[in-house]
Amino acid sequence: MSNALKDMVKEVALEARELNKSFGGLTATDNLSIEVARGEIHAVIGPNGAGKTTFVNVLSGLLKPDSGEILFAGRDVTLLSAAARVRQGLARSFQITSIFRDFTTLENVMLSVQAGQGHSFRFWAPTARDKSLREPAVDLLERVGLGDRVDVTAGNLAHGEQRQLEIAISLATNPSFLLLDEPMAGMGPEESQGMIDFLKVLKGSYTMLLVEHDMDAVFALADRITVLVYGKAIATGTPDEIRNDAAVRAAYLGEEAV
Ligand SMILES: Nc1ncnc2c1ncn2[C@@H]1O[C@H](COP(=O)(O)OP(=O)(O)OP(=O)(O)O)[C@@H](O)[C@H]1O
Ligand SMILES: [Mg+2]
Repeated sequence: MSNALKDMVKEVALEARELNKSFGGLTATDNLSIEVARGEIHAVIGPNGAGKTTFVNVLSGLLKPDSGEILFAGRDVTLLSAAARVRQGLARSFQITSIFRDFTTLENVMLSVQAGQGHSFRFWAPTARDKSLREPAVDLLERVGLGDRVDVTAGNLAHGEQRQLEIAISLATNPSFLLLDEPMAGMGPEESQGMIDFLKVLKGSYTMLLVEHDMDAVFALADRITVLVYGKAIATGTPDEIRNDAAVRAAYLGEEAV
């Protein structure tokens, strides 16, 4: 198929072109190119230290690449700040939770709704009663399954609930694209299954790049998978293609307890 025809068939939501990022002498992102089609869940897997979080950090704008380009919805966003990318619809969650632990569940999401409306964090008293923040925040918490936990201090939520809150915080900025860095990290089997089911529901409305170690989740959710080893993409394909890829099995699936 010609490239022009391919573009007509699938719209590219996010494209990384030949990204490089080093920390001193360590190459964490090595000439990495990836295309995420609109509407797909594109999983990024790889052993510990493969450069998955670094890649998410570069895509979200937390880190600047040493070279390469990032296109989001056809626009070059390589030089944009993380906040500017969020305003264009590119949201992320963190591997290590980034909630405000002393605030309630609801306040955490309201702050993010406010940030998504283009305001910086205005602390605080008038905001707490602001219906334009409160209503969307309550809706989001109901969607992620925390409807009965709105007034709990976020630091007191169970670990899995904190991951759900992270997703609500990401969704609050009204994104079209979610960068998810290990949303199942630290969850038990039941919580993981709940998150898998929830991400399936979100799939109709968002494009996602999913970094995840939980292979059951990856194979249940992903349309395509890219395998990173030492910052390099060694394979991209459908779950079946990846499962049967000899290089992937040797480099990753074979040696990790998955
Ligand atoms: N800020 C930093 N400074 C120096 N080295 C870093 C920094 N961030 C990451 N690294 C190194 O870059 C490499 C890639 O790290 P990264 O966190 O991206 O891996 P990962 O695939 O997300 O791993 P994990 O599966 O454990 O989350 C590692 O060797 C890590 O030690
Ligand atoms: Mg990581």
